[in-house]
Amino acid sequence: MKKRNVVFAGCGGITGAWMNAVKAFPDVKIVGLCDLSASSIDAFSERWKVSPVSAGDDLERVIRESGADTVFDCTVPSAHHAVTKTSLAAGCDVLGEKPMALSLDEAVDMVTAARNAGKTYAVIQNRRYLPGIRRFRQAIGEAAIGALTTLDVDFYIGAHFGGFRADMNHVLLLDMAIHTFDQARFLSGADAEYVYAADWNPAGSWYRHGASAVAFFEMSGGVRCTYRGSWCAGGCNTSWEGQWRATGTTGTLLWDGDSVLSGERDAGGTALIHDFAAVDVPPEAPIEHTGHAGVIRDFLDSLHAGRTPGTDCTDNVKSVAMVLAAVESAEAGKRVKVWREAHT
Ligand SMILES: NC(=O)c1ccc[n+]([C@@H]2O[C@H](COP(=O)([O-])OP(=O)(O)OC[C@H]3O[C@@H](n4cnc5c(N)ncnc54)[C@H](O)[C@@H]3O)[C@@H](O)[C@H]2O)c1
Repeated sequence: MKKRNVVFAGCGGITGAWMNAVKAFPDVKIVGLCDLSASSIDAFSERWKVSPVSAGDDLERVIRESGADTVFDCTVPSAHHAVTKTSLAAGCDVLGEKPMALSLDEAVDMVTAARNAGKTYAVIQNRRYLPGIRRFRQAIGEAAIGALTTLDVDFYIGAHFGGFRADMNHVLLLDMAIHTFDQARFLSGADAEYVYAADWNPAGSWYRHGASAVAFFEMSGGVRCTYRGSWCAGGCNTSWEGQWRATGTTGTLLWDGDSVLSGERDAGGTALIHDFAAVDVPPEAPIEHTGHAGVIRDFLDSLHAGRTPGTDCTDNVKSVAMVLAAVESAEAGKRVKVWREAHT
């Protein structure tokens, strides 16, 4: 397997998840480190015993001096557009952290830049690479509850991050809901068409803006998806993957976002409330690489094989479009069309 020569752009908190994955991958060689903060570069080098060929705050120079062919973008969301464009222009394939960008114009521009450069740009959607969601998706796909009509998801975690999130506009929708909305597309196979959303900052919030949100999506094929979430709800947390209810034409499945999956299907009867029987849910099948490791492995394998990765920007832009339409709806206080070109 050809080794990929990698520059990390951004050496902060999330790189721990990346390094725990790539340290086991023999086809990854870290040749460069880039961060605006020299102390972050030093801390990364020290923690992971990495001696880069080049390091500094100028990404274009670090790529050139290190001879990199791949960039892992772990910078803050507001930097993703510039980092991705610089990397693609320098001839690198890019795997970047979510969310792709903070505006649809930027996200579309990144997709165009990757296409024009003939390079791959894929996005970390680590929650697609977990046994629980694969199992839930399989159960929905097996039509154990008939045809899917509705997905409802709750996400409640009181998370004290500090850092860039504390000061970010629409923090829950922009920095977290991308995971949940992308999961909704992954589970349903449907794309969003319209959204009505609201977000607010509850009393006692330790964020500056938008720590709680609700959204209602009209999806293709008549599927509807509701979302309720908060990052400043202390106690009784859901999982990071959310707590889901899938309603079908003949039954319901419940998934706790982890390993608890159950369901009931209509067993007939003539009473006001019909009889219901437990659904036979599929067993959880282990997957070799989970979370970040799963996305990174798929990205590397796709480059070796010359195929499109599962979380390619051309697909992920449809999830980002959900987030950005939800933000637009929350700001305008009205139902908003989710970008349609993203579906072509
Ligand atoms: N996939 C997940 O589950 C998950 C979890 C946490 C964070 N994230 C994402 O990871 C990204 C980084 O989050 P974090 O928690 O590591 O933040 P962080 O603040 O700990 O680290 C970000 C680093 O990027 C650097 N940086 C900012 N702009 C830069 C630029 N233009 N060039 C080079 N370096 C730059 C900062 O100096 C900082 O060291 C965000 O997009 C976040 O949403 C994803």
